[in-house]
Amino acid sequence: MKKALFIAICTLLYSSVLFSQGGMWVPSSIKERIKDMKAKGFKLSAEDIYDIEKASYKDAVVIFGSGCTGEMVSPDGLMLTNHHCGFSELQKHSSVEHDYLKDGFWAMKKEDELPNPGLTAKFLIRMEDVTDMVLTGTEGHNVEEEKAIKRKNIDKVVQKFTEGTKYIAEVKPIYYGNQYYIYVYEVYEDIRIVGAPPSSIGKFGGETDNWMWPRHTGDFMYFRVYAGKDNKPAPYSKDNVPYKPKKYFNISTKGIKESDFTMIYGYPARTQQYLFSSGVDDILNYSNPAKIKLRTMRLDEIRQVRKSDPAIRIAYAYKEANIANAWKKWQGESLGLSRLKTIDKKIAYEEAFDKWANTKPEYKNVIADLKTQYSLIHDYALVQDYYKEAIMAIELLQAVDIANKWLSNSSSAAIPKIQSDFYHDYYPEVDRKIAKKLLAEYMNKIPPAFIPQDVITEVQLAGSVDKYIDNLFATSLFVTEDRLKAGITNGAIFAEDPAIKLYLAFRKMYETNVRKYLQEYNTNIEALQKTFVRGQQEYEKEQKTGKTFFPDANHTLRIAYGAISGYSPEDAVWYMPISTLDGLIAKDNPLDYDFDIPQKLRDIYSTSNYGRWDVNGTVPVCFLASNHTSGGNSGSPVLNSKGELIGINFDRTWTSTMSDIEFDPEMCRNIGLDIRYVLFITDKIGGAKHLIDEMEIIE
Ligand code: ARG
Ligand code: GLU
Repeated sequence: MKKALFIAICTLLYSSVLFSQGGMWVPSSIKERIKDMKAKGFKLSAEDIYDIEKASYKDAVVIFGSGCTGEMVSPDGLMLTNHHCGFSELQKHSSVEHDYLKDGFWAMKKEDELPNPGLTAKFLIRMEDVTDMVLTGTEGHNVEEEKAIKRKNIDKVVQKFTEGTKYIAEVKPIYYGNQYYIYVYEVYEDIRIVGAPPSSIGKFGGETDNWMWPRHTGDFMYFRVYAGKDNKPAPYSKDNVPYKPKKYFNISTKGIKESDFTMIYGYPARTQQYLFSSGVDDILNYSNPAKIKLRTMRLDEIRQVRKSDPAIRIAYAYKEANIANAWKKWQGESLGLSRLKTIDKKIAYEEAFDKWANTKPEYKNVIADLKTQYSLIHDYALVQDYYKEAIMAIELLQAVDIANKWLSNSSSAAIPKIQSDFYHDYYPEVDRKIAKKLLAEYMNKIPPAFIPQDVITEVQLAGSVDKYIDNLFATSLFVTEDRLKAGITNGAIFAEDPAIKLYLAFRKMYETNVRKYLQEYNTNIEALQKTFVRGQQEYEKEQKTGKTFFPDANHTLRIAYGAISGYSPEDAVWYMPISTLDGLIAKDNPLDYDFDIPQKLRDIYSTSNYGRWDVNGTVPVCFLASNHTSGGNSGSPVLNSKGELIGINFDRTWTSTMSDIEFDPEMCRNIGLDIRYVLFITDKIGGAKHLIDEMEIIE
């Protein structure tokens, strides 16, 4: 009965989710959105979100490492991000004796927190429009000269904004170079692991549940930012002290419900909203199908052998996750683009634009020119995909690639760690089978002009791709670490190694027949896109459509806002937006590695004693919301209308992923981890009450 009522309410509220039209907004101009945000429930001001004079929420959001987002949650530098973002750091600290991946890790006192050389947290000091400075003196010059002038101007701007400070800064184009922004960061470099759940919680559901709803993954990890005694960045030292952030998020455990306002503050990496129709055609009809097929070949093989050999499963778990992640995302993207008929819509729009542009010299040719450039780049772009996803996906060639960087100028016979690490997780018999399929697919699908003559000859000599690959694996010194060692000791002539030959033949082909054309046409497309986007802004204004533009994600700080909302994935089905511990327990399966939860969690469930974290007899785990997010938003804070932390973003549903090109308010949902589950696990599984006490929890 309760459920039926809930569904009725959801359906009623369904129309209200349409209010999220997507968008990843620039914090320094959030004033322009604040009216709309308030209309949708936001209770704070633009200055609370972004201010350079006084502390604001921007000071609590960081670039975690190179690709994720993190947020400050205590006055003592405690930071939250995703388990999958901190995974490789945790892996480095793990061994057979201390398997932190398997068992989790909880530092009970600060001295036990684990340092991570090379890991950084970047805090944004300010961002500013520097378009005029970047473009000074560029008028009347050709493309090459303009590039050089811009580069000089950018150096000057960076210098000006960082002079006398230890900040770093970067200038990035937005709207394809119609505008330029500078981003100034303070970089902290002593970042330590504080707590992580066991992988059976942090990666619960594995690849099966990745990009899926309903979801029950406890994808979180705690870190702490350390500083010198002056609270400024300092390299790792045991004398460093916890960083006192300018701002940190309070945690709300008051709960969430369908249609509540939510906001995500983080670092989405790349979207392509303004992509020309031919670009979408390339993705949907060429690139995605090719990449999906090539990755399917790899996954089929890995999944086949891992069943028979647990050692291979462990060695290939991380590789499989990496391969499968984008593989599943591309499938969702293609499905979404087809369903939305994005190409047809774009073509219709471009035709209308072209008519309008007919009388405007600046825009008159832009559509025709874009078509030409896309037809020119087409073959090269596809070869690039095959080169990366077929040839360079052969692990043996990755081993050569690593060796190529040290082998010729190394005087010692010792094999560097990076090369040994490669062999640690390498099974040539798996790679050999995959290599046969990948090379055959490349040679089948790619015109001869892009297949190195030497390779064609070798394959002919061997009689078939299969035989050629068998010979290669039988003789190459790069197949095992022992062979490589012996080769070095015996003074082998590596230039004659068949794997080196294959690697260099493809590289040379790529460098001479592909790279420079790709660069040339891409530069032309960028320049045309710049004109086209500017034209669209003018066109929409003249037509008074009221369309608001936002720049594509470029791995800079953005704000997305929407609401907690379920959705209808297909006819007659409604997905509720909140998952719970009951659903997690229903998925629990001791026989399935990805769904085998810790016994301790089973025991807690059997007592139903969740203490402080009990919500109607269960514990909420994950939730869906209609925020426009992308890769890089992993670890981003999900905030309520008062700017309190209600969750950590970690995924989208796979059927949402076309939102990198076209956002569909009815279908696109990001997936957040409910902060109450984070606290529950921290308390009941980690026994780390001191962390909970460190945070400010609004109940
Ligand atoms: N889909 C999420 C993202 O795109 C999580 C990826 C990591 N997890 C995995 N099972 N591969 O990054
Ligand atoms: N898991 C993704 C990340 O690591 C976020 C998912 C998405 O693409 O939205 O950034």
